[in-house]
Amino acid sequence: MTAGLCGAYGTFACMLGEFVYPAANKSKGWLFVCTVDHLAEGEALDFTSPTGAKVVVARQGAGTTEENFLALSSVCPHLGCRVHWESQNDRFFCPCHNGAFDRDGKPVSGPPQAANQSLVRFPLKVENGLLFLEVPMESLVVSPLKPSELRHPDGDGNGPNSDPSGVA
Ligand code: FES
Repeated sequence: MTAGLCGAYGTFACMLGEFVYPAANKSKGWLFVCTVDHLAEGEALDFTSPTGAKVVVARQGAGTTEENFLALSSVCPHLGCRVHWESQNDRFFCPCHNGAFDRDGKPVSGPPQAANQSLVRFPLKVENGLLFLEVPMESLVVSPLKPSELRHPDGDGNGPNSDPSGVA
């Protein structure tokens, strides 16, 4: 009977612990991206997790450890356009409104700099020459915008170079 009570209390304590301290890492997982030698220094690839997280993985060094790679969200924090790596300019660039980010994802120009919006960074690890990315296993998209809902911050909804008067 004592063993039964200990088991029951132990199970209850575990359930209570899960409720009070939900493990944040339970909603994350490591996903295989590519072999380390798949990317040359300066190259990048676009990666989409099964839950829809869009990530650009760039190789920024010649070494084979995770410090030579960088994984950032490829969704621009300004209005959600796709960001890509430009090795020749050593930056991540968003073509929608000329937003640019340094190699750490910090904004350096355009609307993201004005609003101090950085790119979200994802952890990486290398094991046996294989590159892995840690991503949320729950959907990152809380409320996706439809293209018709995208509006330029100036409020006219026609983009940065538009003329509301219609005169060219
Ligand atoms: Fe990227 Fe506007 S959506 S700068």
